[in-house]
Amino acid sequence: MMKKYKLMALILMLVTVLNLAIAKPILADEINNGGKIFEIHCAGCHANGGNIIRRGKNLYLPALKKFQMDNIDAITNLVTNGKNNMSSFKDRLTETEINTVANYVLDQARKQWK
Ligand code: HEC
Repeated sequence: MMKKYKLMALILMLVTVLNLAIAKPILADEINNGGKIFEIHCAGCHANGGNIIRRGKNLYLPALKKFQMDNIDAITNLVTNGKNNMSSFKDRLTETEINTVANYVLDQARKQWK
């Protein structure tokens, strides 16, 4: 009887450890993928985190903060629906792709696009 529980505990532990090992590469992969989406759909106006149309509305952290764009929800919403001279991407990108590219933008902003 006791043996069974030990085995279950061991399996649970293994699953947890494996999960931790796998979770990181997936996150890195998503951010990588975000970079590709960004290159294709965003870099035309936002190369290196800038903004060729409205310079002040760039993708650096101070600007994102100033316009309350320093969170995933706000960026996702903007990319999905567009605003002024930035078009909507809901017909070109899936929800997952938009979420991925939003994460990429925030990650890059925190690294000052370096
Ligand atoms: C045609 C040019 C263009 C493209 C392509 C474009 N944007 Fe923008 N982006 C803009 C403009 C213009 C604004 C300012 C919108 C406004 O008036 O608030 C903006 C604003 C933003 C902001 C808010 C910046 C701030 O400081 O408030 C984010 C975040 C952003 N874009 C992300 C993206 C992402 C991610 C993509 C690709 C999926 C993208 N943009 C594609 C032109 C573009």
